Amino acid sequence: MDTVIETKRLILRPWEDRDAPALFKYAKDERVGPIAGWPVHTSIEHSLDVIHSVLSAPETYAVIPKETGEPAGSIGIMFGTDATLGNMKPCEAELGYWIGVPFWGRGLIPEAVEKLLERCFEILDCNTVYCGYYEGNDRSRRVQEKCGFRYYRTETEHIDMCGVKHVEIFNRITKDEWRIRRGLEMK
Ligand SMILES: CC(C)(COP(=O)(O)OP(=O)(O)OC[C@H]1O[C@@H](n2cnc3c(N)ncnc32)[C@H](O)[C@@H]1OP(=O)(O)O)[C@@H](O)C(=O)NCCC(=O)NCCS
Repeated sequence: MDTVIETKRLILRPWEDRDAPALFKYAKDERVGPIAGWPVHTSIEHSLDVIHSVLSAPETYAVIPKETGEPAGSIGIMFGTDATLGNMKPCEAELGYWIGVPFWGRGLIPEAVEKLLERCFEILDCNTVYCGYYEGNDRSRRVQEKCGFRYYRTETEHIDMCGVKHVEIFNRITKDEWRIRRGLEMK
């Protein structure tokens, strides 16, 4: 059965074909995709294709503010070779996310990240979760800082889906760090 996750202000659920117009509305903005490593969407058909080819991956969720009821962004947990970071172990995961410009600055992605960290550590049995951002993407850096990630390593030769080379900074949080942060007793 499809996983549907609820937070205070969000529903996270798998992407559906009918989401293509909403996806296009936010993904056509050049401030969103390129800084995350993927191209600006050029049509609703392009967005539908991305739903089929990319956003249909397991543990990838449309980020739906309850106030609008339609997808405004995406968040996903990636494993193994699907992750950007190489040499991932089976008990490790990487998070990726974005949200449409009208929703920036309201803490919605941190709210989604906190919930998916809980899923990674409590349900999916992860012991470390990574998250990266391209050098200069201070908004994403802040999300990771606020959610308890700490510096792991820098990769200087990352080539994105548009063929552009970036310096990518990876942060990580371990299960123990997450439990301490949540005030939970360590097992
Ligand atoms: C990065 C991103 C996901 C942050 O999501 P969000 O829900 O807006 O996160 P927050 O509300 O916590 O804001 C994060 C930071 O963005 C900055 N910010 C907030 N509102 C902003 C606005 N309207 N315009 C520009 N920057 C803004 C602030 O520095 C904020 O940090 P602060 O809480 O210390 O002030 C979102 O900006 C985005 O989708 N950007 C484009 C795609 C992208 O970068 N994805 C991540 C790839 S690694």
